[in-house]
Amino acid sequence: MKFFVDTADLDSITEAKDLGILDGVTTNPSLMAKQGISGDKNVLDHYKKICDLVEGDVSAEVISTDFEGMVMEGERLAEIAPNIVVKVPMIKEGIKAISHFTNRGIRTNCTLVFSAGQAILAAKAGATYLSPFIGRVDDLNWNGMDLIHDIAEIYAIQGFDTEILAASVRSSLHIVQAAKSGADVVTCPLKAILGLLNHPLTDIGLAKFLADHKKANS
Ligand code: G3P
Repeated sequence: MKFFVDTADLDSITEAKDLGILDGVTTNPSLMAKQGISGDKNVLDHYKKICDLVEGDVSAEVISTDFEGMVMEGERLAEIAPNIVVKVPMIKEGIKAISHFTNRGIRTNCTLVFSAGQAILAAKAGATYLSPFIGRVDDLNWNGMDLIHDIAEIYAIQGFDTEILAASVRSSLHIVQAAKSGADVVTCPLKAILGLLNHPLTDIGLAKFLADHKKANS
């Protein structure tokens, strides 16, 4: 399973990269706004900085909701770097745009996915990645992980190539569950990745090893 960080924060991306386990980055308009990035030129410049930092795929989201606008924006984003993946919302015009990009060799990430039916449509359109939003499904007291499981089953039966990118992942447990449910990629804040390190017995065991070593060598 690939690990992406879901952020536009360059420090977070650098820290994740330094761990040596980073496969890519996803962003969205909210995450860009959180970093105070606004204006077309600044947004494109910021994506360039992210693409220069990481070798893996970087999802950059279109703002337009009409086909022509999405195509224009997506083509401009794709020109930034070869590792750009154009992120397109799961709407009718978005499916048209994904088909268009697929036919032109531009890779896409279909975002705001909340059902298996949407997942089938995105795969038919040739999306490179599919982003089901786990945490937001959980927020409604449904089970986001069931969605990943269903999509993984359908994609395997149908032989779809689209990669399942579990998004809106908010905890370390979500990462483990997404891995178990058949996600190809997980994208989340760095904190959730670092949380995978935690186990009290690791800390207790290390403290004992170090204490014994110190005793034996004093
Ligand atoms: O990747 C999509 C993600 O950024 C949404 O996460 O926590 O806002 O639901 P969240």
